[in-house]
Amino acid sequence: MRVLVTGGAGFIGAHVVATLAAAGHESVVLDALLPSAHPEGAPSGLPGDRVVVGDVRDREAVADALAGVDAVCHQAAMVGLGKDFADAPLYVGCNDLGTAVLLAEMAAAGVRDLVLAGSMVVYGEGRYDCPRHGTVRPGPRAEADLRAGRFEPRCPDCGAE
Ligand SMILES: NC(=O)c1ccc[n+]([C@@H]2O[C@H](COP(=O)([O-])OP(=O)(O)OC[C@H]3O[C@@H](n4cnc5c(N)ncnc54)[C@H](O)[C@@H]3O)[C@@H](O)[C@H]2O)c1
Ligand SMILES: [Zn+2]
Repeated sequence: MRVLVTGGAGFIGAHVVATLAAAGHESVVLDALLPSAHPEGAPSGLPGDRVVVGDVRDREAVADALAGVDAVCHQAAMVGLGKDFADAPLYVGCNDLGTAVLLAEMAAAGVRDLVLAGSMVVYGEGRYDCPRHGTVRPGPRAEADLRAGRFEPRCPDCGAE
């Protein structure tokens, strides 16, 4: 499979590219190499079988990166808390508009499979209750559960959903 990893030069994206390669998949990286994410300059030897230095808000760059791609892992984002509220348009541009441009170009290219990064900053840590053990902190979901489409976290004591 050939996978477009947006933000593939970043912390999560670089691990995704390495994991794809280890599993025998090809990757295309689309990354704008934002100075805020790469204060020491562009990393040398970017991962990926093909690298497009470009912005997810740029339709042409996204369309180019999508050529021959089967699925997309969208990790390009401005992350962390802004230092200044004046940065808000930049965050909304990269994160919201960028995702919208990506989705529009995926629709045009007929690419239908997307993994979208989420963050606790958006969805919160949540609270989990077991009918027998009360409030609990579940560990990571088991791969077998994920493969079977079971996303409900399990009680660390009794395994109940
Ligand atoms: N790092 C974590 O622990 C963590 C935890 C939860 C969620 N996430 C989510 O994972 C995603 C990736 O986070 P990360 O930690 O790898 O961040 P990062 O800053 O290390 O990487 C993001 C990459 O995206 C690129 N980028 C930013 N805006 C872009 C644009 N407009 N066009 C093209 N490239 C652009 C940057 O240059 C950078 O290489 C984010 O959505 C983040 O919220 C990360
Ligand atoms: Zn329990």
